[in-house]
Amino acid sequence: MKPPRKLHIKSYGCQMNVYDAQRMVDTLAGEGFVETASVDDADLVILNTCHIREKASEKVYSELGRLRVMKDDAARQGREMKIAVAGCVAQAEGEEIIRRAPTVDVVVGPQSYHHLPQLLARAQAHGRALETEFPVEDKFEFLAPPKPAAIRARGISSFVTVQEGCDKFCTFCVVPYTRGAEVSRPVGKIIDDVMRLADNGVREITLIGQNVNAYHGEGPDGRVWPLGRLLQRLAEIPGIARLRYSTSHPRDVDDSLIEAHRDLPALMPFVHLPVQSGSDRVLAAMNRRHTARDYHEVIDRFRAARQDIAFSSDFIVGFPGETEEEFSATLALVMQIGYAGAYSFKYSPRPGTPAADMRETVSAAEMDERLVRLQDLIDSQQSAFNKAMIGKTVDVLFERAARNPGQIVGRTAWLQPAHVMASPDIIGQVLPVTIESLERYSLLGELALPVARPQPSPFSQMTTGA
Ligand code: 5AD
Ligand code: SF4
Repeated sequence: MKPPRKLHIKSYGCQMNVYDAQRMVDTLAGEGFVETASVDDADLVILNTCHIREKASEKVYSELGRLRVMKDDAARQGREMKIAVAGCVAQAEGEEIIRRAPTVDVVVGPQSYHHLPQLLARAQAHGRALETEFPVEDKFEFLAPPKPAAIRARGISSFVTVQEGCDKFCTFCVVPYTRGAEVSRPVGKIIDDVMRLADNGVREITLIGQNVNAYHGEGPDGRVWPLGRLLQRLAEIPGIARLRYSTSHPRDVDDSLIEAHRDLPALMPFVHLPVQSGSDRVLAAMNRRHTARDYHEVIDRFRAARQDIAFSSDFIVGFPGETEEEFSATLALVMQIGYAGAYSFKYSPRPGTPAADMRETVSAAEMDERLVRLQDLIDSQQSAFNKAMIGKTVDVLFERAARNPGQIVGRTAWLQPAHVMASPDIIGQVLPVTIESLERYSLLGELALPVARPQPSPFSQMTTGA
């Protein structure tokens, strides 16, 4: 039997890339590849790239420079190292990568990962291979499902893609160009995936997609199901304790989603709902198709449905022509909403997007200064949110042994890591924890109830091996 070949994937960017990396591992497992954490002895290195913000593609070329040296070293030792570039930079700049980086053997866009085995064979036969065919609507279904051992090794929380692509065309964003039009998977396929994950010990599912609440997959009844209905159905699958979804657009929050938050205890009260700016002029120039007022109204609908709900968001500072007054409107919105956390970015022009042609600019110094002010405000809200947990008893889903001996770590409903001293038997269980203190972003606490007889959890049985 041939020894397994080693595969190393380096992923940048969003959750979708993390998920895609896992699916590439699963697909290549069928070709005799096993994943390795070290790049040095890999037979195949895949850079899974991101194009969303500045310098992403420059990072790829400098990484390729380092890999070229490693590839040459390997060749001197009589070993072959193949290099592939995947992800959104591959999609956007495939031809240029082939031209600029002769060390690259395969360039593969996100719509074509199911062709990776054929592309590697083509590169072997003809030297190099490029595929950025686009879009391949049935790409989801060609990917190999993960094997039970792979599911268990990845732990009790898992991503499942439910849709890909985006039709919103925000003027700053490359996603509609690199990931293509919005495509939703049929409900039946998602149920099959979630059942397989649950059978192998997964207790928490995060449904992912670039615009996940635009979901409109075909249901088993032949009708189009919105995200809320899908969540209702998934909550019925035995073993699934928690459901989440990411990333949402404020305009696509429909009543089914609000009702799901009202009715499903398994649907976690933590929603990532990017707003980008608090200024209506900027929001219009971004083509967000909502105002600050619309956003507040959406937040109010969530809060009315579930009172312990918390929010996170994405912000862009320094969008072309953003004035100090417009930036202040963003700070005002953050103060009014009160976030549990948020990401903020300096605007960077993405080639091919409408905003890249806008002539007004904001100086680098102003952008830096606005970013600091916004991040300080968000940080203070985040620490207030975390501090407010002290003294409370909250449910924690335990995921794994922590670094400190004897400690087990899990997450609260709001994704805060929480540590307790306990037996590994609790891994895979949701248990109430009384929070005693906060260490940076981590909560420390004690199990609120004695754990008399652990609930059987397929995952904890398999990992502790007793
Ligand atoms: N410049 C800065 N930030 C951007 N984002 C998307 N495109 C850009 C850009 N051109 C941010 C948005 C989005 C997040 C994933 O990345 O805030 O919600
Ligand atoms: Fe990009 Fe999100 Fe806008 Fe779609 S909704 S274009 S993914 S920022």
